[in-house]
Amino acid sequence: MDSIAIMEQLMTSEGRAEPYPLYAQARELGAVTACGEGMIMVTGYQEVNEVLRDGAFQVADAELRSRWEEGFNEHSSKIMLSRSILERNEPDHSRMRSLIASVFTARRIAALEPAVVAATHRLLDEMAGLGADGTPVDFMETFAYRLPVGVICELLGVPEADRHRFRTLAADLTAALEVIAGDPELDAADAAAEELAGYFTGLAAERKARPKDDLVSALVQVAAADPARLSGHELLANLVLLLVAGFETTTNLLGNGLSLLLDHPEALAGLRSGEISPAGYTDEVLRFDSPVQVTSRVSIGNGLRIGGLDAPYGYFAFLLIGAANRDPQRYEHPERFDPTRRDSRPLSFGGGPHYCLGAQLARLESAVAMPALLARFPHLARAGEPVRRDRWVLRGYQSLPLTLGR
Ligand code: HEM
Repeated sequence: MDSIAIMEQLMTSEGRAEPYPLYAQARELGAVTACGEGMIMVTGYQEVNEVLRDGAFQVADAELRSRWEEGFNEHSSKIMLSRSILERNEPDHSRMRSLIASVFTARRIAALEPAVVAATHRLLDEMAGLGADGTPVDFMETFAYRLPVGVICELLGVPEADRHRFRTLAADLTAALEVIAGDPELDAADAAAEELAGYFTGLAAERKARPKDDLVSALVQVAAADPARLSGHELLANLVLLLVAGFETTTNLLGNGLSLLLDHPEALAGLRSGEISPAGYTDEVLRFDSPVQVTSRVSIGNGLRIGGLDAPYGYFAFLLIGAANRDPQRYEHPERFDPTRRDSRPLSFGGGPHYCLGAQLARLESAVAMPALLARFPHLARAGEPVRRDRWVLRGYQSLPLTLGR
């Protein structure tokens, strides 16, 4: 298969379900390969890392995408995401990043640990109640979704009563982040974007009138005081992004991680006994089955080369994070799930100027939740086949049924 055929396979349901054999084939063609007119596919760890950190490669912003992507301007979901920090370049990116980063400080996130521990135990109690008589429970629904949505909603200041709406809305919206999505999926993404924007418009108005000690209030005040620092559209786009980025990926980190533990009993025993550190386990899940599989950049430089290939102005680079994380040049036995690895540094949170603002929070949630889950249910087992979401960019499970044991 050539790189174009591999790319096409990755866009099918079968390819999305099992991308790793396709990545291995792509790697055999080279760490960087041409994959169609003006496009390159990057699978090497070093090369993906380099592109992410090189200012001569930028994110594809609204201006570029409206020229390239058919129908871009007809999709409110795509337009909304393109107004958020994720899809902006300088100087707008730094302007928004400094505002949002001031909330996601290492100190503030570390201070959340007791709240994450308390929320974990509350959810485990509820799970225990649901599965007490041997009834299977779905880990994704009862835990993996609820913990991160609860944590990010606390940070944002979204009232508890409203949180149940977000699982489906966020799942629908993520179609807009996929490389290719069908019309029905994009229609659902647009409807979700509009509903979420409507929701945050209401919440922002409430917080403007009666501010609280939360992120929505803080950003609303900035936008009201100086729209040049954050416009009304940007406020909404970033609130929706923070909500969705704040739990969708972390939900998948928890689900992908538990599934790996159930397939690797020694790792499960090691994490349960304390022999394997929760941080090492989390890093290895991120490396081995990353919740974000791919991102992209556009070359804005002249004479750029990457991995021995030309990447002139306007070239589009698909950065296959999931492949880079299994690059044999970087990792010994990359196909082995080994939570005792040292110096892993997977690229799952990206790198360079757009490095994930929630990385520390996501790591904290996994490191707290997974050992607590194993301690609480010593006889945890699968209760049937898990079902994957049909997505490439954001990789995770729709359902992961379990029995909790005695
Ligand atoms: C396991 C969980 C997570 C993964 C794998 C993940 C992954 C990523 C990746 C790969 C990027 C960079 C995309 C690019 O460069 O194209 C990113 C950016 C971002 N993430 Fe995360 N993320 C996770 C959790 C979170 C959480 C919990 C939050 C918020 C609380 C968050 C907020 C953000 C934001 C705001 C950005 C944009 C940063 C920028 O553009 O400057 N993420 N994330």
